[in-house]
Amino acid sequence: MRRKSKDLKVEEPKEKSRVFFLAGTDTGVGKTMAVLALASLLREKGASVGVFKPVQSGVGDAEFLKRHLGLEDDLREINPYFAPEPLSPHLAFRRQGVRVRIPRIKKALDVIRSRYDIVLVEGAGGLLVPIVGNYLMADLARDIDADLVLVSRLGLGTINHSLLTVNEARRRGLRVAGVLFSDAGGKRGLSEKTNPRAVRELSGVAVLGTVPHLTRFDERSVCVNSRRMIDVRPLWGRVLPPAAPRSSSAKGLWATRGPASGVTRPDLLARWDKQYVWHPFTQMKDWVAGEPLVIDRGEGSYLIDAQGRRYLDGVSSLWVTVHGHRKRELDEALKAQAGKIAHSTMLGLSNTPAIGLAKRLIEIAPRGLEKVFYSDNGSTSVEIAVKMAYQYWQNIGRTRKIGIAHLANSYHGDTLGSVSIGGIDLFHKVYRKLIFRTIRVEMPDGYRDQDWAGALDRFERMVERDHAKIAALVVEPIVQGAAGMIMWPKGILKRFEMICRRHDIFLICDEVATGFGRTGRMFACEHENVRPDFLCMAKGITGGYLPLAVTLTTRRVFDGFVFPYEDMKTFFHGHTYTGNPLACAVALRNIELFKEERVIERLQSKIKFLASELQCLKTLSCVGDIRQRGFMVGVELVRDKRTKEPFPWEGRVGARVCEKARDFGVILRPLGNVIVLMPPLSITRQEIRLLINALERAITAIIPEMKEVDG
Ligand SMILES: Cc1ncc(COP(=O)(O)O)c(C=O)c1O
Repeated sequence: MRRKSKDLKVEEPKEKSRVFFLAGTDTGVGKTMAVLALASLLREKGASVGVFKPVQSGVGDAEFLKRHLGLEDDLREINPYFAPEPLSPHLAFRRQGVRVRIPRIKKALDVIRSRYDIVLVEGAGGLLVPIVGNYLMADLARDIDADLVLVSRLGLGTINHSLLTVNEARRRGLRVAGVLFSDAGGKRGLSEKTNPRAVRELSGVAVLGTVPHLTRFDERSVCVNSRRMIDVRPLWGRVLPPAAPRSSSAKGLWATRGPASGVTRPDLLARWDKQYVWHPFTQMKDWVAGEPLVIDRGEGSYLIDAQGRRYLDGVSSLWVTVHGHRKRELDEALKAQAGKIAHSTMLGLSNTPAIGLAKRLIEIAPRGLEKVFYSDNGSTSVEIAVKMAYQYWQNIGRTRKIGIAHLANSYHGDTLGSVSIGGIDLFHKVYRKLIFRTIRVEMPDGYRDQDWAGALDRFERMVERDHAKIAALVVEPIVQGAAGMIMWPKGILKRFEMICRRHDIFLICDEVATGFGRTGRMFACEHENVRPDFLCMAKGITGGYLPLAVTLTTRRVFDGFVFPYEDMKTFFHGHTYTGNPLACAVALRNIELFKEERVIERLQSKIKFLASELQCLKTLSCVGDIRQRGFMVGVELVRDKRTKEPFPWEGRVGARVCEKARDFGVILRPLGNVIVLMPPLSITRQEIRLLINALERAITAIIPEMKEVDG
């Protein structure tokens, strides 16, 4: 029998609503109850929600939903095809002599869509159930451009069924918005308690929660019983506010919400990103050709994109996140400070959090550092140190000491001053004529060249000759991050310090990357009890919350600037947001958390665990070297393991591995052929396993392609 609608004309306004397609991992898993619960909860948020059942065989799901959701649509509109026998639709309708027409289903859906902000489409059975001929439920979900919500049983066996369906959905290009479990009301054993989490971690798909065993079906009771069990935010995030407000007579959610300020619809965001945003360190030609991954929120070690997909943050959002995303204490510190003041200038004024933080930083920094100068990013923190070192010697009359020495393959940031003391040709070569002259110190990379002693001897000889002209040496202590995670053996940093001391050259330690626990100690200098003249910090200083940087220095340097004003020896440098109170308040709380949660102590066993998990990569044919210092890891991919021959940089092998890792739910970012792992310090052992597993799978998947590059 075919349900006929009186009027299949699409009503005004024609603006399309968001469609979620609910598919089961099996038949009879509780899809109808899931529709009822989701519709009730989404309505509670303010959206108008309709339902649609394209084909129904046997049971009266459409009637049930119409009745309990109080829908005014004609039953024939909600469900255009009905067959009384409980069989697979393709068979049920064939036996009825009814030919199911897909265009008719789509047209009927359009009618419902024109009336609601959100339409929940209830499939029949699982994704691969045929509707007519070889046209499957999955085909319909794709053709109506729906986001998929997978409804799965709660008990034993659900991991396998859920993952199989998620994989198949992805293979078919469907967007999976979330998995919702259905509680049949049985006993809750260990499987029921732990499976949703396992599914979330293994699939990387948001778990919306569990539909409780409902006994009362009115909307209020459903909401009361489901509210704490189901999180509809991953679905809500996909719902589109229109680009312009509707007329005041329009019904529904967007009539009462303003225009597009809070748009989170993934396809629109992706389009606008390509249209308006220029990304750093990114060839935009490739970017606009690809699919941008748009992060909408974070939670612990995870990033969650605008489609609700979860990714383990394997690089701590560019080496900054310490205690994880949305750390309650940091959120609260930020809110508390926002309740007082967001910003006041440090030029001619001071502010409470900046003073408190400066004091605390001096307490935790290596001895000898007594003064704190604020800025707002790593590059400026290093530039400030360089300018201070240079001006110090000018101020005290040793005007020939102007040379700045730095390591040949160093990286200290992207402003012109820090580019001057950088040596990564790919980034810096083009600016060569714009930057100032420096003294480049060649050092080994520790993998292809290990002659550290020879390099240090050459440095010392140069210093013995030229020290009267050298103001400072700038180094990234112990780990040279951007150069490809180069790790120094013990003693190198100490020797640099001794040479500098002996010849009255300032030692500037750039701990922008290594600071705040990254190497297993609060600061890398601590490993060798080194006391630099300048210590630069940024990245982890706010736990990954806000841009803030500091340059710490000694009283000696400070005193070299304390003169009568008319001597013109003031340090004339300061950024608008210097010492920003919001950032300082969060940084202060971040440091307290290190102590309260014994972060460094607890990190030690995780560092060992990470080291043991990394071992499995050693056997892979293209993994040449695995370097680790604390929670800083570089996995170098090579064309030939024996000769250590690198892959040609144009092949973007590292980038391809990282792109692949996303398929396994992990975000990584390479440095050329070196895959960087820099997880948040708060990562759990299970998440470390996931991280390494994803990397292993990504490398394994890319190896055949690498061979082509080899070609
Ligand atoms: C050692 C080091 N110094 C300086 C910087 C520059 O920091 P920012 O990007 O905040 O300017 C970086 C950035 O990665 C770094 O690793």
